[in-house]
Amino acid sequence: MSPELFNTLARTRRSVFPDQMDAGKKVDDAIVHEILTNACWAPNHGQTEPWHFTVFTGGGLQKLADFQSELYKETTPNGFKEATYQKLQVTPQKASHVIAIGMKRTTTKNIPEIEDIAAVACAVENIYLSVTAYGLGGYWTTGGVTYREQAKAFFGLGEQDKLLGFFYIGHIAVPSPSAKRAPIEEKVKWVKG
Ligand SMILES: Cc1cc2nc3c(=O)[nH]c(=O)nc-3n(C[C@H](O)[C@H](O)[C@H](O)COP(=O)(O)O)c2cc1C
Repeated sequence: MSPELFNTLARTRRSVFPDQMDAGKKVDDAIVHEILTNACWAPNHGQTEPWHFTVFTGGGLQKLADFQSELYKETTPNGFKEATYQKLQVTPQKASHVIAIGMKRTTTKNIPEIEDIAAVACAVENIYLSVTAYGLGGYWTTGGVTYREQAKAFFGLGEQDKLLGFFYIGHIAVPSPSAKRAPIEEKVKWVKG
């Protein structure tokens, strides 16, 4: 692969949100398998591989929708919003696959929690880039029930583990516009002796 090709991939990658997806058009499971294989090749400190993914597709999307909307209702005694409940019910069906992104906390080695989280974030960037390479759309969301303790068990996560959100994948119906970044001079300082 040429560096130019990778530069283009990294710089043209865009989040594609559920309303931009071709609802009902399925991505081949084999492609999602390849994408997740790339995720599992992310760097991680101490060979701990702290990622844990749960893939929802087909009838699984409705299971996710039911779980997250009901959990939202049960755990929101104050400030419950019917619109949020409905959104949690319908959004997964706009995607082909939704991947719950979990971090399994390393307990066998002295690895700081932030490094387990950082490794999973590296895995998610591999997902983002892979989705782009396959001409698909996707995005990472930390909305919904992401940070509710009661959500963890449904995704195979224990007390010490963390749910870091969901990655939606689908065919693109409406492409994202090109984006901007601040000039790298604002973000990078060189020290050359
Ligand atoms: C950790 C993380 C959490 C995110 N959570 C959300 C979210 O909850 N809702 C959302 O619309 N986008 C979310 N995004 C996607 C960002 O909105 C998106 O990356 C940003 O708008 C930049 O657009 P780009 O990905 O096309 O460069 C998240 C991204 C990251 C890295």
